[in-house]
Amino acid sequence: MQEKGNKRFWWVVLTLVVVYAAIKWGVPALSRWITTLPFPLPVPGTLMFMYMAVTLIALFLLVTFSEEHLEEFLRPIRTFLAGGYGRIPRAIGLVIVPLVAAWQVWALTVPQVELPTALRIQHPSSNFPKKMEALQNPFANPSDAAIDAFIERAKSGKVRFVPQLREDIDRWVEEAGPDHVLEAIPTAPMRRFLAALKTGKVDRNTARAALIEKTLFEGRALYAMNCRPCHGDSTAGDGPMADGFKLRPINFTDNGTIETIVVGYTFWRVTNGGPGLPPEATPWDSAMPEWKLSLTEEERWKIILAEYDLAEKTPRIPEKH
Ligand code: HEC
Repeated sequence: MQEKGNKRFWWVVLTLVVVYAAIKWGVPALSRWITTLPFPLPVPGTLMFMYMAVTLIALFLLVTFSEEHLEEFLRPIRTFLAGGYGRIPRAIGLVIVPLVAAWQVWALTVPQVELPTALRIQHPSSNFPKKMEALQNPFANPSDAAIDAFIERAKSGKVRFVPQLREDIDRWVEEAGPDHVLEAIPTAPMRRFLAALKTGKVDRNTARAALIEKTLFEGRALYAMNCRPCHGDSTAGDGPMADGFKLRPINFTDNGTIETIVVGYTFWRVTNGGPGLPPEATPWDSAMPEWKLSLTEEERWKIILAEYDLAEKTPRIPEKH
């Protein structure tokens, strides 16, 4: 009878250990075997909790099924507490059990420095003004009036650049003595435009391409002055300062970044920077500056045009409602 009673107790302990081991090590090992991946699939903590709870309930039902079962299960515990297995084992047991329990409680409650488990939302939008969704970059598709005005200014040699560039361009004109200030932009569409300008016959398409070249030129220069230290020459998020941030500037050349957002959203992010983001943009705060404080709206749009061009990406097209 004594033997049988001990058996019941140890069966309960063994069942708990086997179920625990099967979930803790068995399932990951099985997942590696099935998927042939070099790493096990993660087993959620809740799965362990549920299975252990179900096992405990089943064992409780089994043990309390009848008076005898319960008696058999409790017998070794009673014997142990009464000193039936010797006083020294009992003393050790009575010290170890509270110590282990205390250690577990301490381990659970002690404050720890841990990485937050929440994933960061890369494009938080809870405070993004809906009306900005339909915004278009005014420099991406210049109007006929803007193109005609550009042609006029080019004809009279009075092309205006953003203020940050004027000093350098003036110095370059002085030193190089070009026929036209737009020769500062030595790209094919600009050459075609300047050649047409000489003949006096400029069509709008040639001028549009040249105007976009000029905007990109300004945008790239502003990008190099303001954004490059963090976002890098190629917009890959690898500027000289990038390593200094916990939240690294992301790689714009990656599909999944600026390609997946409408340009109005990009404008909003550039305008308001890290400080303008809602709480779900944490746990790591973005070091992105608030550019509305130091760049005009025109400058910000020009940079954005250049940014997409450098990254060789196009913004997402806003959905029509
Ligand atoms: C001090 C470093 C720093 C500078 C300078 C900086 N950025 Fe950022 N930028 C960041 C960081 C950090 C992020 C956050 C990355 C993220 O959200 O994953 C960011 C995010 C962005 C995003 C949002 C990307 C997305 O997918 O939501 C855009 C767009 C952007 N920057 C453009 C610019 C432009 C344009 C400039 C220059 C006018 C600039 N940045 C200058 C650090 C910088």
